[in-house]
Amino acid sequence: LATFAAAAALTLAAGSAFAQCDPGETVIKFSHVTNADKHPKGLAAALFAQRVNEEMNGKVCVEVFPNSSLYGDDKEMEALLLGDVQMIAPSLSKFEQFTKKFRIFDLPFMFKNMEAVDEFQGTDEIQELKSSMVKRGVMGLRFWHNGLKQFSANKPLLEPEDAKGLKFRVQSSDVLVAQMSALGASPQKMAFSEVYGALQTGVVDGQENTWSNIYGQKFFEVQDGSTETNHGLLDYLVAVNAQWWMGLPEDVRTQISQILDEVTDERNAEVNAVDMAARQAILDAGGVIRELTPEQRKDWVVAMKPVWEQFEKDVSPEFIALAQSIND
Ligand code: LMR
Repeated sequence: LATFAAAAALTLAAGSAFAQCDPGETVIKFSHVTNADKHPKGLAAALFAQRVNEEMNGKVCVEVFPNSSLYGDDKEMEALLLGDVQMIAPSLSKFEQFTKKFRIFDLPFMFKNMEAVDEFQGTDEIQELKSSMVKRGVMGLRFWHNGLKQFSANKPLLEPEDAKGLKFRVQSSDVLVAQMSALGASPQKMAFSEVYGALQTGVVDGQENTWSNIYGQKFFEVQDGSTETNHGLLDYLVAVNAQWWMGLPEDVRTQISQILDEVTDERNAEVNAVDMAARQAILDAGGVIRELTPEQRKDWVVAMKPVWEQFEKDVSPEFIALAQSIND
């Protein structure tokens, strides 16, 4: 039993950057849902923990719980509000109950690449959105990138018609529901940790995600293949419980912010490389990736872009115009 316990503790330490916090330290439980390694969010969370635990030793201690090991994405928001965890980094698609402004990030074909996303988020208007949910108890600190999304299904998807009638898992976002409906598919909101099982058992036929998630969660193993559509964005907001954050001593808050700034810059600069490595890892593991001709891709744009109109009022036409001017 002792050996088993020791082995389990080791695994936990390696898998979750789990720190042994000392008495008296302010503990930050950081819960997230993706893989710890070879993943933009997993790597950023681990680096943040490592730096805080080194540089603020004795004062602050970060424990990271990756891969929905503490809370799934259907529970982590509630856990943050209750103070059961102090930090989370959900995708922007999961803030619907707090703000409709983030819907712009879910609109298909809004951003041509991650550089455009970075520039858009760097504008004052978008930076302000991070603190727009404070009244609801949530404070956004930094945007963390993942990448552009691809489709996968249990049959080849080359034209939008191929998705018709299929059941697709989507994140808890009404924009993504509308996007799949525009394709004639039937969308189902579902927690991230349940997707692999749902694909495997045929509860859903397909899903959309980035290469690092398709690889990390092994979706490619239970799908016919993935299609490189780059049709949407998966991006995160590092969020804290606003009351807890404002209650920290100012010097502690400043130092955490500074470390988070540096970690954000460092890891956001690497996301394209992590994304491409995951794409290659899927191929190396025997996964199928289909590329679209420019004509085929245009057909997907024509099928999905009308969704913008439905959500224009929520996201403000000015923000759409701003995002588009950056694409040009
Ligand atoms: C998803 O639910 O597909 C993603 O938001 C998971 C994640 O955090 O990358």
